[in-house]
Amino acid sequence: MKLNPTTAAKLAGLEPLRERLWLSSPTMHGEEQRWVDEAIRTNWVSTVGENIDEVERLAAERVGAKHAVGLSCGTAALHLATRLAAERLYGQARPHEGTLAGRRAFCSDVTFDASVNPVAYEGGEAVFVDTERDSWNMDPAALERAFALYPDVRLVVVAHLYGTPAKMDKIRAICDAHDALLVEDAAESLGARCRLGEAWVETGAIGDYNAVSFNGNKVITGSAGGLLLTDSKADADRARKWSTQAREAAPWYQHEELGYNYRMSNVVAGVVRGQLPHLDEHVAQKRAIYERYRDAFAGLPVSMNPYDPEACEPNFWLSCLLIDEEAMAPMVRGERDYLYTCEPGKSSPQEILDALASLNCEGRPVWKPMHLQPVYRANAFVTREGSGRGTTNAYIAGGGQDVGADLFRRGLCLPSDNKMTHAQQDLVVECVRRCFGEA
Ligand SMILES: Cc1ncc(COP(=O)(O)O)c(C=O)c1O
Repeated sequence: MKLNPTTAAKLAGLEPLRERLWLSSPTMHGEEQRWVDEAIRTNWVSTVGENIDEVERLAAERVGAKHAVGLSCGTAALHLATRLAAERLYGQARPHEGTLAGRRAFCSDVTFDASVNPVAYEGGEAVFVDTERDSWNMDPAALERAFALYPDVRLVVVAHLYGTPAKMDKIRAICDAHDALLVEDAAESLGARCRLGEAWVETGAIGDYNAVSFNGNKVITGSAGGLLLTDSKADADRARKWSTQAREAAPWYQHEELGYNYRMSNVVAGVVRGQLPHLDEHVAQKRAIYERYRDAFAGLPVSMNPYDPEACEPNFWLSCLLIDEEAMAPMVRGERDYLYTCEPGKSSPQEILDALASLNCEGRPVWKPMHLQPVYRANAFVTREGSGRGTTNAYIAGGGQDVGADLFRRGLCLPSDNKMTHAQQDLVVECVRRCFGEA
């Protein structure tokens, strides 16, 4: 890639990596091959088989949920989780009307869109709830505010960004106080734990309906795949039925409900089965990467994605940086492009990402908040101060807090691959350091 001359001058003498350093790539161990081969040898390559059964059993046991349902991806798990919650709240919908038609649901704002799209799949409006600075997750104070503005809402969808648990004790209590169901998106946080009262609980077992993902970039992978987790056997059985086109017990194809082709393949489950024993090892590697970055960045005008060790143990899926306001060089983003300038001692996420890319390292901007996404621009957005839409005034200087927009503006995700060597990580650190050097 072509760097602007000032940034290129800052990096003078640094050699690009010969092999690309990824944000987070799959790490295979060998056992995966055994279970995939077993599926092929025994001809159980479709959506039934021992690998699926084992993954469901082992994952439910690990996370601490009573039941797990193997699905094609985390998005499918979130869709079924959302529909199960919506049916429990509002009853069955006609096939052409989603179960959330005409309803609202409160959703995390700084997350991947797969967390919140199921609300729209089911015909509902996602109301985005602003983010808190100390966990980068849904702000419980903003959630309280959202219930004050929209007291009829009965569904909350919360994600654990980059593997750091949201404040589930508070969020669960707020949901209970408002008689609301909780869908937990633990796609990024498998293996992370948080404290609920005196107990430590794994993410993926705290909501009424929970989802994890085995996408290729996650802490462990099946190449694809996901799980729905719940304590309700009846709901797990319904999700399993919906995931295989909702076939009834009849000799022919008989359908009384809308179904999907969402079931996990036994081959994919073989990869997951081989990965599950390595979850803790991957989390330990990710933690070491996070801590090494944190120590190396001491003295630079940046901080890392934060967490409270008294309240949670992240899985450290991605290590991120937030640039101090005073050290932000001017940067603007359009819908697809960006511009920045260089100033001595200052940098910006896009400059650092360009610099990393020139050294063959993959970073990424912090996930763009949902309330800023064109597809959701008409949806409501609530901060701890109230509605987050239309907060400025042509005549009076105004504008409230928008934490998500600020994290997007000043933050970036660093290469966090668990196979990263110290030498590779040192190059990333040096690159960031140089970006804050003399222009
Ligand atoms: C927060 C979040 N939710 C949901 C998903 C969707 O999972 P999948 O890719 O398995 O559909 C992802 C990532 O892919 C994610 O990061």
